[in-house]
Amino acid sequence: MDAIRNNKKLMAEIERIAEVAGYLWTKGWAERNGGNISVNITNLMDEEGKALPALAPTRQLNETVPFLGGNFFYVTGTGKRMRYVAQAPFENGSIIRIAPDGTSFDIIAEQPVGPTMEIHSHLMMHNYLRSIGRQTTVVLHTHPTDLIGLSHCKPYKDSTTLTRMLWSMIPEARIVVPKGIGLVPYAHPGSMELAYATIKQLEKYDMLLWEKHGVLAVGDDIIDCFDAIDTMSKSAQIYFNARWAGFEPEGMTHEQLEELVPVFNLPS
Ligand code: 13P
Ligand code: ZN
Repeated sequence: MDAIRNNKKLMAEIERIAEVAGYLWTKGWAERNGGNISVNITNLMDEEGKALPALAPTRQLNETVPFLGGNFFYVTGTGKRMRYVAQAPFENGSIIRIAPDGTSFDIIAEQPVGPTMEIHSHLMMHNYLRSIGRQTTVVLHTHPTDLIGLSHCKPYKDSTTLTRMLWSMIPEARIVVPKGIGLVPYAHPGSMELAYATIKQLEKYDMLLWEKHGVLAVGDDIIDCFDAIDTMSKSAQIYFNARWAGFEPEGMTHEQLEELVPVFNLPS
């Protein structure tokens, strides 16, 4: 489809999405169809692309997303595997156009690939972030084994305790994920309950842990979102490795964590 393929800026972004999809698979975070990605590409679309006709019947949204009216997203397809998104992003995902009133969307390119079952969470997250004036474009959801494992562990079923522990494993965690990680109580995949609980945590955090399920990161750049999850996953690995070796890791002290704030200009 020329309107899409001839758009160099858009194709460059699609390549970055494919690059990250490959990392998710290589990391072992994307069993079968695990994980999904949405990226707001409105600023990258040209007039010809924006005017493409719908490829499938219009889909109604359960919750209106007024701040996304007329926006365009690349969204990975439901049931699609990240390892194939990496190879063929337009066979395993599609471009959608949100209706001007934010109540529905059309799939416009390149194939009528139905979006992820988590589309409600993704769009409500994008909508919430726009509603508070943020220009965030990316929601990345994946299934990192170590972080999911921690969400099964009673002492860490609290955002503050979990964040503090992960930060204390390695300075980069505090630096790269300065707001920490918010725990979202379990609700089944694809549910509106999960979407509503997720939005609540976004008030405070840019990274969320869906209890017993997976992680989400929001940001302006998909590589940065991947790096943030990778850094927290590294912390979780250090913690588990220490436990397997038979000791409780000491963790950085409160003072060691606090001194990073002015040195790296972090929000406190
Ligand atoms: P989808 O294949 O519908 O994206 O679902 C995968 C997933 O991770 C659900 O949370
Ligand atoms: Zn998932």
